[in-house]
Amino acid sequence: WDCIMEDLERDLLTFEGFYFHRKACDTGVLENLDDFELRDDDVFVVTYPKSGTIWCRQILSLIYFEEHRKRTENVETNLRVPFLEYSKHIDFGKRPSPRLFVTHLPYNLVPRGLKNKKAKIIYVYRNPKDVMCSYFHFLNTYSTFKAEDTMEAFMKQFLEGKVVGSLWFDHIRGWYEHRNDFNIQFMMYEEMKKDLRSSVLKLCKFLGEDLNEESVDAVVRQATFENMKDDPLANFENILKTNVGLKREGHFLRKGTIGDWKNHMTVEQNEKFDKSFQKQMKDFPLQFIGM
Ligand code: A3P
Repeated sequence: WDCIMEDLERDLLTFEGFYFHRKACDTGVLENLDDFELRDDDVFVVTYPKSGTIWCRQILSLIYFEEHRKRTENVETNLRVPFLEYSKHIDFGKRPSPRLFVTHLPYNLVPRGLKNKKAKIIYVYRNPKDVMCSYFHFLNTYSTFKAEDTMEAFMKQFLEGKVVGSLWFDHIRGWYEHRNDFNIQFMMYEEMKKDLRSSVLKLCKFLGEDLNEESVDAVVRQATFENMKDDPLANFENILKTNVGLKREGHFLRKGTIGDWKNHMTVEQNEKFDKSFQKQMKDFPLQFIGM
């Protein structure tokens, strides 16, 4: 544990008590986040890692870009909806409106302007056992990341928040408890999975984007797990294979199901997780499906 923690410390960067991915980070960017200049029509996807981030980015990009829906322009979703904290090479001030962003930031580190409800936020959350299981596979698939390689040890790492995104409990609690400060729509991964079309319509309503039937169909079609997995502009395979490298065979779009944790956690591990969950999430009003 001590040895892996040393490795992890090298992999993670702490800023204001929150863990970032060191290699992708620039402290200058982090220091200026508070003053980041917002526009009224900016839209932010906010997530804890492995909660459906790339999925929501894809949906958002499809809602806003007709050329994406019609597949007349070949741009990676990653570039249409770039990371706020990991894109030091992009001059956001020069990007045309509406600008779409994604971030894993906790509520207290986002640009100050968001608190004036200047822009819109979509917060996607997922049951934490599936989040942990997805995270475990993700970190053990790509060579750039350091992580425990047994579920037993990774669960300890996850429950101590020694990962990019820090502690899951703090992330969702922070955002939920401060929801009235922001112009925010919460979306649940499991609901998106059960009824993608309704979720897309809910998002369109929140964003004030009035799409016709055919366009909504196109969004839904291109945002299913199967279609995203086959779409090189959406599935991250290129970026991760070339920039990050594989530790073992695997895909970013791995399974995309509800309750896969049952295939990876023992009964004891599950009980331990439940205990931790109950301790930290009692009185928390949002429900989680599939855990
Ligand atoms: P699994 O590892 O459980 O398969 P993030 O983008 O936040 O890192 O989340 C990645 C998780 O979201 C992965 O979960 C991935 O398969 C899942 N995902 C991505 N696109 C999806 C889609 N269209 N439908 C369902 N799940 C999706």
